[in-house]
Parts: sequence; C-alpha cells; structure tokens
Amino acid sequence: MWALCLAALLIISITHWVYRWRNPRCHGKLPPGSMGLPLLGETLQFFTPNTSSDIPPFIKKRMKSYNITDPDLNYFVFQQEGNLFQSWYPDTFTEIFGKQNVGSLHGVMYKYLKNMVLHLFGPESLKKMIPEVEQAALSKLQQWSCQDITELKDATASMIFDLTAKKLISYDSNKSSENLRENFVAFIQGLISFPLDIPGTAYHKCLQGRKNAMRMLKNMLQERRAESQKQPVDFFDYVLEELKKEGTILTEEIALDLMFVLLFASFETTSLAITLAMKFLSDHPLVLKQLTEEHEMIIKQREIADSGLTWKEYKSMTFTFQFINETVRLANIVPGIFRKAVREINFKGYTIPAGWAVMVCPPAVHLNPAKYENPVAFNPWRWEGVEVSSASKHFMAFGGGMRFCVGTDFTKVQMAVFLHCLVTKYRCEAIKGGDIVRTPGLQFPNGFHVKIMEKDTRNRKQRYIAADA
Ligand code: HEM
Repeated sequence: MWALCLAALLIISITHWVYRWRNPRCHGKLPPGSMGLPLLGETLQFFTPNTSSDIPPFIKKRMKSYNITDPDLNYFVFQQEGNLFQSWYPDTFTEIFGKQNVGSLHGVMYKYLKNMVLHLFGPESLKKMIPEVEQAALSKLQQWSCQDITELKDATASMIFDLTAKKLISYDSNKSSENLRENFVAFIQGLISFPLDIPGTAYHKCLQGRKNAMRMLKNMLQERRAESQKQPVDFFDYVLEELKKEGTILTEEIALDLMFVLLFASFETTSLAITLAMKFLSDHPLVLKQLTEEHEMIIKQREIADSGLTWKEYKSMTFTFQFINETVRLANIVPGIFRKAVREINFKGYTIPAGWAVMVCPPAVHLNPAKYENPVAFNPWRWEGVEVSSASKHFMAFGGGMRFCVGTDFTKVQMAVFLHCLVTKYRCEAIKGGDIVRTPGLQFPNGFHVKIMEKDTRNRKQRYIAADA
C-alpha cells in the first residue's frame, strides 16, 4: 500500500515537474518557442556545428517559426547593460575563464578593469605600437615565404599571440623554457565540449591548459615583483604599480584572470579575422587589386619608400577599413553574446522573466537580407561612406553598449598593418582548405593552407615615376 502511494507521489511529482519545465512561471506572455526536453532543453540542436556562412540552422529555423531575433531587442539588451540586463555566461565558461574574469564582473570593479585595459589598447598606446606591429608582420611574412606551405590560422595565431604577450607580459617564446601558447591551444580545443572533468576528456584538457597557463602567469608576476624597480614597460609593471597603491581594489587573482582573458581574447579572434581576410582576398581578385592600390599609394606618397607606417597613413586607409568591416561582418567571430535579465522585462508585448538568459545573435543581424543586400556575398564596397566606429543596430561584430569590445582598435591596427605588409611586399596563393566550421561558441577555419611569396619591389620607385609620366 505504502509502495503504491510512494509510486503515485513520484509520478505526480515528475509530471508536475515536467509540466513546470514546459510551462515556466511568467507574469505575462513568454517569448515564443519551445522549452525542449526536460533538463537538456534544446542544447544538443543548439551546439550542432555547421559549415555554411549563413545564419546557423538552429537560429534560422526559429526565425522562420517564431519571427525572433528582433534588431530592436538586441540593441535594447546592449543599452540596458548593468540595468535591466547584465553580462552573464554559462557556468562552464566562468569555470574556464575564472570567476573574476572581466565578463563576469560588474559595477566599480568592472569599470576599473576596463580603464586599465584601455590604458594599454587605447589610441595613444596604439599610435606607439604601429612600428612594432609592422615589424612583427614583416618578420612573420618573411619566415612564411621561406616555407613551402603555411597553415594560416595557426601561423597568424602565433604572430598575434607573440605580439600581445610581449605587450602584456614581455613574454618571448624563444627565450622561455615553457610554451605559454601551447597551454592556450589545449585550452581552446576543449572550450566547447561536454563539461566532464575526467582525464582524457577535452574539457579536462581545457581545464589543465588553463591551470598551466595560470601557473606560468603567476610565476612570471612573482618573478617580476622580485626584480628591482625600473621604468614600467608592460602591463605586468602597470598591474604591480596598481597592486602597490594604498586602498587598491585590484587583487592578484583578478589581475591574473584579466591577463588570461586578454591573451585569449586577442589572439584567437584576430587570428581568425586575418585568416578569413586572406581567404577573401584570394577568392576576390578585384578586392585584392583595390586594396593593393590603396597601400601602394601610401608608399608612393612617402619621401622614403621604406620609412615605415605612420598613424596618419593608418588612418587614411579608407578601403582597408571597408574590407575589415566586411570581413568581420561575415566572419561572425563571436556568434552569441549572453546576458541575464536582472528583473522581469516587458518588451513589445512579451515578458522575459527575471533570471532568464538571453542571447544576442550577431550572425542573424549581419546576415539579414533586409539590411544587407545579398548578405552572404563578400562585398567591401557596401561599406562605402559608412562610418563604423562603434556598434549599431545592424553591426555588432564587437558587441555593443557599455561592454563594447575594448580590443576593437587593437584588432583593426593589427589587421590593417598586416594587410599593408602583405599586399605591398608579398603574394599569397591559396593551396587548400579555408572552409569555416561554426559552433555557437567559436569558429574554426578548416586548415587554410597558403604559399606566401615575396613580390619584386626593387624597382617600385621607377614604376611610380613611369606611371606618373
Ligand atoms: C576580431 C577581433 C575581435 C572580436 C570580433 C571581438 C568581439 C568581442 C565582442 C562581441 C565582445 C562583447 C562581449 C560581450 O558583450 O559579452 C568583446 C568583448 C571583449 N573583448 Fe573583444 N573582440 C576582438 C578582439 C579583441 C582583442 C584584440 C582584445 C584584447 C585586447 C579583446 C578583448 C575583449 C575584452 C576584454 C572584452 C570584454 C569587455 C567587457 O566585458 O566589457 N577583444 N569582444
């Protein structure tokens, strides 16, 4: 009898729980859609990788059925950061990136960290960085031109990593006994994986990669602290100065988490953007032609052809910026931006309950045919005369609102300077690969192999004179 009662109770509880799962409490009308399976929701469909450049099938299907992904709501979400919505990423991300990473911090601490980063990657610092970026690009291109074949994503990731690690922590991979980037590679490979932390799983390798990288960063910071006082040269020095200040809100853990996020955020994203840029150049000869002309013109207008890029020249690269915008629009490097509703939110007749997560989906915005004609086509000329210095309702490759990416200008400098070096001094031939595999977390280009060749620029000056005559 008791057993029967218990079984009945269990069935009633489960039924009630499933009912509640399917019909969550809400004081208004929920946005349309399905709650999927109990506990799992629609996670499996959501994570299905795809290789098309178009809007992910998961999103496309729901756009058709429910007419979701409203640009006004995306914009509203960004504008309401810290008020109705708050930056939020799934628990596994927080586990992986550190509980005190900049994306999970809010309020005063968040503003403080953002200012620190802007100190390093703001316009004043970037102006000084141009020669360094140019040198790094030239030396890598020279190195690649001596190879039969170069796998571009990995090669550019190593270039960007070396540059950023030098700026942040004066790290030199040639002089270090341990390879910091290797730990990041292990980390990235397991970033989008089932969160099962047992030896052999990708998630375990990811956590180990983070652990090793954090250990190296911590050791470096401690070594630096023990060194005698000298002129601050990198971000570590800046952090140490801040840590010494009376009443500082910065802690060593927060500084190390920030360092980790900055290294990751900078090299994984920009290297993908440069790889895709080169793929687009090899697929679109007219674009390559116009880009080359813009950069040849910069050199032509100099008194000394090899005098090195200046900030003024960088700022004059109109077509290059169109090309970069178009590349990041189609690349959709960050395919989803997460927020949490701080309280119940009513928008256009729907209610988002407090505590619910929302995902802004940049691909749906960037590939919207109502805004971009023939949206999957690569067409840098569509940006002619369009000023894109921050986010808009129709362009959010770097996020939007208060949390707009602090590394945007750094990325643009690196891309523009790299392209300048490439098109004025080298030729690139695609050998194989280059398709992109998309998941809701990251994009992985399928081995894009190229051959880099030096251009003959010896008689450039004479060519200009002849062309002018
Ligand atoms: C193509 C290159 C890049 C893309 C597409 C990109 C994209 C984004 C996006 C979409 C966000 C907003 C995330 C959110 O709102 O939750 C973001 C934030 C951020 N990005 Fe980037 N990023 C790039 C390069 C960089 C670089 C080079 C750095 C480092 C210097 C960087 C550092 C950051 C940081 C620290 C944040 C967090 C800002 C915050 O929470 O306020 N990013 N990025």
